[in-house]
Parts: sequence; structure tokens; C-alpha cells
Amino acid sequence: MATFSSGGGEKNEATERHAHVVGWGMAVPESALTNEELSTFVETSDEWIFARTGIRQRYIADEGESTATLAYKAAQQALEIADILPTDLDLIVVATSTPENIFPSTASLVQDWLNAHDAGAFDLSAACSGFVYALNMAADSIRAGSIQSALVIGAETMSRILDWQDRSTCILFGDGAGAVVLQASEVPGGVLSSVLRSDGAGSDLLGIPSVGSIDADDSRASSNGAKLYKMYMAGSEVFRFATRVISESIEQTCTAAGIQVNDIDLVIPHQANLRILQAAARKLGLDADKFMSNVERYGNTSAASIPIALCEAIEQKRVQDKDHIALVGFGGGLAWAAMLIRWGVPEPSEQQGSMFNRQRRHVQYRIAKWRSRSRRWRRRVNRKVREIRV
Ligand code: COA
Repeated sequence: MATFSSGGGEKNEATERHAHVVGWGMAVPESALTNEELSTFVETSDEWIFARTGIRQRYIADEGESTATLAYKAAQQALEIADILPTDLDLIVVATSTPENIFPSTASLVQDWLNAHDAGAFDLSAACSGFVYALNMAADSIRAGSIQSALVIGAETMSRILDWQDRSTCILFGDGAGAVVLQASEVPGGVLSSVLRSDGAGSDLLGIPSVGSIDADDSRASSNGAKLYKMYMAGSEVFRFATRVISESIEQTCTAAGIQVNDIDLVIPHQANLRILQAAARKLGLDADKFMSNVERYGNTSAASIPIALCEAIEQKRVQDKDHIALVGFGGGLAWAAMLIRWGVPEPSEQQGSMFNRQRRHVQYRIAKWRSRSRRWRRRVNRKVREIRV
């Protein structure tokens, strides 16, 4: 079992750099698929799904929507709230299990569409824990002083890797994206501690075989019987794993930050299943109301579920200044991760003017399209010229 943890947010706060969430945004596809609609082509029912999972509907991407387009929309919203320009970003990380390509990364596409030309970009694969892993990486880079600001996105089109014949998995998942902007500040708070964990011995419980698989040349099935590019899951074992690691990792991240579990004001967990969240709340001795849940409307959107739930918690005014917010993700890997944040969005600097910046951002998005097209054209013309010369 590999382990990694960082923390101790209360030490020498005044002299340290802190990583604060200063912007947030979310996007879901246009079309929702209700349990009733699902039960017209899968042998299931609204009663069964709702009783076992708490899910009533999920959003499904149409032909024009993808992981990158959803990520781009969520990113634009997050930049709007942070009121910074895409060109101010140093890093873009997209946590996803359903990337547009193996490479180039979805993060690179988003970087191009935003015109974030000074940002590094990469995708991070840690399944449903991916967003917390990515946020931890970005926060550590900010605290270490190597970057000033980062855009961290969780984005998925799970509908494209589901086996729609398998009623034990296809009822659970949905599509969407959530994003946050993380920025350096001298104001104490922000990300206080993180706990990242992995147990690859559980890799046969939940996964999606892909091009690097031992059986990749066999288009029907991989060695554990799962179909290539389709999700497999051992539901009841994953259920038991999830309830155990949520409570364990939240306790560990509280210890690392030097606070008690009871000091947590809100837990924003990965939205897999309402029963998992209720069981974890009981284990922690916390009121179930302290667990944010919106799984009813979105299903499990994997790496996107935590930032989407964060956006809705903020909108519902469940997140207040100085609150202790715990994020916790768990899933394929097996991997899990928890993070403690002391909420507090530092005041924007004086030279930032919202209206002016909004217009500058829109100009940059337009420039991004032309810049990208003109670069491609230039490359094509140069290629033709070289061919003619030879
Ligand atoms: N509709 C109707 N019946 C279904 C069904 C569906 N969608 N899926 C399974 N069933 C049936 C099974 O065939 C089984 O029937 P049987 O008893 O005749 O064999 C019965 O319901 C019980 O199946 P089981 O798999 O034991 O159900 P469960 O109570 O464990 O619930 C899950 C299944 C998937 C809802 C549950 O295990 C779960 O939520 N696990 C965690 C999954 C998860 O969150 N994964 C992502 C983590 S990131």
C-alpha cells in the first residue's frame, strides 16, 4: 500500500504561502435521463435505484458535448468568479477517467480554448479521487512557491464508458464537470492538509481496461472478463471499502491539520451513493446533515462530483468564511483521498475591475480560437511549401 500525506496548516501561518480557492464553476450536459426513462431500456426500476443509491436522474452528454467541452464551460465560470484572466494561470490540471484522448491531454485542449498560453497542462488519473489528488498537487505547488495560480478541473463523460447492458453499473453514473481556481495568498487558511492513499490490490474491483491492457488486441474482453473501454465493478465490495476509507481518511486529515472531526462544518464527499454517505457519517459520529449530497440529481460523476457538490454548497450558502470543509474522494485504484480546507476567499487585488476583466476574458476566448486555427494553418502551409520544395 502506497501512502502520502501532507499537513500541519496551523504552523507559522503568518510567514507561509497559502493556497486558497478563489473561483468555482460547474457544467452538466443539456439532457437528463431519469430512472423511469432508464427503466424503458434496462431491466430496473425507479424504486430499486432510488432505494439502493438515492439517485433519481443523471445528465448524459449528447453528440456535441464531451469531457473537454464540459471542462471548458466549468473553467470559464471559475475564472469569472475568481475574476482573473486565463493568461494569469500557471497550471491547468484535469482529473478524469474519460479523457478526450489518451494524449493530448484534455487539460491541453482546455488550455488552448481558454488562451491560457502561460500555463502547463496535464490530466491526472485517480478515478473518483482524482479531483482531491489534483487539488493537493496544485496546492502543494502554490505553497512551495513554484506557481501562483492553478485551475483544477474534474470532468467526465461516464456515459461513454458504461456498459448499458449491465444494470449493476449503468444506473449509477452521469456526466459533468466542476472546476476551481486556486491562488497563492499570505492570508492564513485555504488548503490545510491532505491525505492521499492507494491500494492497487483492489484493482480488480473497479476499473476500465484500456489500450495498455495485456489483452488490448482482443476487442471483446480483458483477462478478468471485463470488456475493453467498459467499466467493471464489484458493487458490494466497493461499498464496504468506501464506508471504511471515508471515515478513516477524514480522521487522518483532521489530525494532520490539528483539528477535531467535530470541528468540521461541512463534508463534501464524492457523490457515489447516498447510503455510503449516511454510513460514513454514522461511523464518524457526525450528523448526516453535515454531508453535502446532490447524488439524487447527478448520479456519480466520478472526478467531477466533488467540485460540482462544492459549487452547489456555496450556492446554497452552506459554506461560510472560516468554515472547515472536508473533501473526500474514493474509488478505482483502489484510491482514496481527503483534504481539509479552511474557507476564506481573500479580497481581490485593487487593480482588478470585474467588468473590464470580463471583457478582457471574452476577448481572450475569441483570440484563442483564431490563434489555434492560424497556428494549424501555418503548419499546414509550411508542410505544403516543404513538399513542393522537395
Ligand atoms: N435494478 C434491479 N435489480 C438489480 C439492479 C438494478 N439496477 N442491479 C442489480 N440488481 C439485482 C441483482 O441482480 C440482485 O438480484 P438477485 O438477488 O436476484 O441476484 C439484487 O438486485 C441484489 O444485487 P446486489 O448487487 O447485491 O445489490 P446491492 O444491494 O449491493 O446494490 C449497488 C448494488 C451497486 C447499488 C451497491 O452495491 C453499491 O452502491 N455499491 C457501491 C457502488 C459504487 O458506489 N461504486 C462507485 C464507487 S466510486
